[in-house]
Order: sequence, then structure tokens, then C-alpha cells
Amino acid sequence: MAFNYITAQEAAEMIKDGDSLGLSGFTAPGSPKVITEALAARAEREHEAGRPFKVNIFSGASTSDHADGVLSRANAINMRAPYQNLPDLRKRINAHDCHYFDRHLSEMAQEMRYGFYGKLDYAIIEAADINDNGEIILGCGLGNIPTYAMLAEKIFIELNEQLPKGLMGMHDVILLQDPPRRREIPIYAANDRIGSPVLKIDPAKVVGIVRTKSYDGVKPFTTPDEVSKQIGSNVVKFLVSEYLSGRLPKEFLPLQSGVGNVANAVLYDLGESKELPPFMMYTEVIQDAVLELMKKGKCTFASTCSMTFSDQTEETLFADLNFFHDKILMRPAEISNNPEVIRRIGVIAMNTALEADIFGGVNSTHVLGTKMMNGIGGSGDFTRNAFLSIFSCPSITKGGMISNIVPMVAHADHSEHSVDIIVTDQGIADLRHKDPVERAREIIDKCAHPMYRELLTDYLNLGKGGQTPHSLRAAFAFHNAFNETGDMRNTDFSKYC
Ligand code: COA
Repeated sequence: MAFNYITAQEAAEMIKDGDSLGLSGFTAPGSPKVITEALAARAEREHEAGRPFKVNIFSGASTSDHADGVLSRANAINMRAPYQNLPDLRKRINAHDCHYFDRHLSEMAQEMRYGFYGKLDYAIIEAADINDNGEIILGCGLGNIPTYAMLAEKIFIELNEQLPKGLMGMHDVILLQDPPRRREIPIYAANDRIGSPVLKIDPAKVVGIVRTKSYDGVKPFTTPDEVSKQIGSNVVKFLVSEYLSGRLPKEFLPLQSGVGNVANAVLYDLGESKELPPFMMYTEVIQDAVLELMKKGKCTFASTCSMTFSDQTEETLFADLNFFHDKILMRPAEISNNPEVIRRIGVIAMNTALEADIFGGVNSTHVLGTKMMNGIGGSGDFTRNAFLSIFSCPSITKGGMISNIVPMVAHADHSEHSVDIIVTDQGIADLRHKDPVERAREIIDKCAHPMYRELLTDYLNLGKGGQTPHSLRAAFAFHNAFNETGDMRNTDFSKYC
């Protein structure tokens, strides 16, 4: 079938106010770029003319400035799910200009198929190639595009000439059968392939192909600061001690690693470890550090939803694609983050917290309990189902005005039932086989910054019984002190007695 080649502006003109769009990709890679930019420009024109114009955006996870960034600056997003991470969109969400549904990433595709979010008007797919039968070689991230492409009434393709056709074979595309008739997902090791190397779409749905030459625009990681390095070294110290004590299998276990500088620092440190054997990853994103680990032979395989590499690292990958081709497999989010697989193959989950409390609760999403930061992303999918779940964060933030270890988290994303280990620059708290008070002592002693240990111990002593001795009057005393004085060190428990 001969496709219609159009401009991004022509595509944007077809989209109507109120339409729902499903985007390919997961983080910046794989996400559309030029149609969303043209759509933002169109929204601005509509708004200037006094007409409403907003669309609903469904993705795999975060996107990039080419999509969420421009669209939120144009105030063109009505509903957004399941994850985002950009300052401009964050502002819209916290100002209630955008309705944001912060969802576990593994659940989004099925919820979409069952109609939780209404009908999908368009799917926009970034592709490395497409043939006349509608077989697409996807880009560097999948997300939920198999589902969005199936559900959407119409499809736009962004054919990105930056993407090599050699990506063929690095995707594992599959659509899960829905409950109640789903069979097991036959992944028994991180490197088992179960799907198709291409995304098959109905060619008749394609209303236009836009040619592009866009980079993802992922920035390289800065050299980790001292705190991140210390956290990374503590995580590795913990894994080595678990391994040497025989609490991890000889062949090790697949790793999941969250995003950010701390996660990158952990991975670099793993690469240096002489005690740990080469390992595989079963994760939702791989960052620059993973490519280095592969070159060293330390990481032998990565199952992921996206290759979230900086533009420079992506060039290294493309230049040496043959070396990496059989070491990386990109899968849809409902597979990369699937609880069944994570539990079966025994993933070690390593994620970052905004704050953790002395009993083991973790807040990953809401700054001081109210302002959305990014979203839960895949942290819940992995944490709840992991063989071991590790959370890390600095012990203090903003020069010590904030303690990341608090009496009670101001927003609960992960409960103590799912959190095994907490790591800060101060040390490692092992919460396994400990009751709540033992956990509190462990976290205060090993993870809290020395400047907050006494205050946290005072809080623990305030509790008047019960297995988890919270003082509900004083539980948010740290947060109140910050809101009132700008510094948690001004916490005064006498106000709550
Ligand atoms: N209270 C208030 N502000 C805090 C805070 C706290 N307890 N902890 C951190 N902050 C602030 C920081 O000071 C920083 O502010 P700034 O932007 O003004 O400098 C900001 O929050 C981000 O903190 P930072 O330490 O740089 O965060 P990060 O890049 O390491 O990310 C999360 C941490 C939790 C936001 C991030 O990991 C996340 O979004 N997680 C949820 C999703 C997820 O885990 N996905 C995993 C699977 S990939």
C-alpha cells in the first residue's frame, strides 16, 4: 500500500480539540517529536484566536521536551497518563491545568484496552522503518504502542532518519491477552524472546507519514557528586555482602535500576566490583552506564522498555550496533514491568525515594506531601514484586534544611511491606526480619543524617504504644517545621505533646 507523506503541520491540523493521542516510546527515546511540536504551535494559535484546544496524551512513561514540554507550555494537555517528568508539565499538573493520572506503568495498556480512558483517536509512532504491509521497526523505546496502535482509529508515523534500520531485531513486540483468559508470560530468563521483532499495524489506518531527523535530546549524565558516589558504593557494598553470604544465587539475579544520577552511580560502581559476577538486567530503562558495563562484559544482557541514552551514547551504540544487537531487547511496558515476570525471575529492584520514614514507608512522588514531582513510574511494579527491593536517597537535601528520613512520609507510595533495604550516603538499613521499632532504630542509626538522629529518636519515644508507635499528632512535625520556618531542624515536638 502506498502511504501518504505529509508535513507535521498537516498532521497537526487533522487533530481536533478534545482528541486522545497515544504516543509511542518510553522516556524521550521512541517518543514522537515533530507532530507534537506542530500541535503545540497549533494550540497556541487556537488559544490566541480565543478557541479552546487541548488534547489527552497517553504514553508509555515520560516523553521529552518535543512532546510534554512544548505541549504543556502551550497549555494544550487536558488529561495525561501514566507518567511525566518535565518541569513545565509538573507546573501545569500542580496548578490543575492538566488532569494527571499517575499510574503503575505495567497496568496502563490493559486499562486502555478495557476502556478506562475512553476511545483513542490517534496513535503517533516513531519508526526507523515501515513497509507496505504495515510492519514497523520501532525506535529506541516501546512503551504502550502495541496497544495504542491497535486501539487508535488513525495512525501517524514519524519516520526518523536518525534511526538505523539495524535496530531490526532489538524489539520484542507482543500484545497480552486480557483477563480472564491470559496465559502465563513465557519469560523464564531475562533474555527469553517471546514476541515479534516488528510492530504490525493496519496500513489502512495510517493517515500520514512525516519524515524527521530528530534527536531524542537526552542530556549526558554529570559526574556523580560525592553523595551519589557514597550511595552507589553503599548499594554495591550491600549487594556484595548478600552475594558472599549466599543469600543471592551463584549466578546472581537480574537487576532493575531506576533513572537519575544516583542510579547511574550505582551501575558504574557495580562495574568496578570484583566480587560480583557478570549479570543481566530486567528493567524498564537502561542508561549510559549500562553500555559501559556491556563493553566491560559485566552486564551480559538487558531487557528494557527503552534505551534512554544521551545523544552521545546513542551515537556510540549506533556506530557499534552489531556488538550490542543481541545484548539488548526492548519490550512493551506491560512486559518490561510485568509483576508475574519480575517475581518469577527474582529481580533485584533499585529505586530512588524522595523521602523514607523510620518505619520503612517510601514517598517517591509528592514533594512535602502535596506537589507532584514525576509519578510512581515503574517503581511500584518492581518494588512490590522484587526478590529484594532497595530504595536509596540522600540523607539530607537543600543543605540540611530537609531530612529525607522523616517520622512519617507525607505521601505513601511504597509501604514497609514492600521495602527491604534503605540506603543513604550515611549507610545501609536492612529492614528484613525486623519489627517496626527495630526498623526505626536501624533506619535512624544507619541512614539518617547525624544532625537529625536525635530529633527522630525523640519522635520514636513520643509514641504511646501500638506495634508501630506513631504519634499521629506529631507525625508531620518535620514537614510542618519546614513549611513554617524553611528548615526541618526547627522541629519542636513540645508543640505536639
Ligand atoms: N522533600 C522536598 N524536596 C525534595 C526532597 C524531599 N524529601 N527530596 C528531594 N527533593 C528535591 C531536590 O532538592 C530536588 O530539587 P531541585 O530540583 O530544586 O534541585 C528535587 O526534589 C529532585 O531531587 P533529586 O534528588 O535530584 O531527585 P532524583 O533525580 O534523584 O529523583 C525521584 C528522585 C524520587 C524524584 C525520582 O527517582 C522519581 O521520580 N521516582 C519515581 C519514579 C521511579 O522510581 N521510577 C523508577 C523506575 S525507572
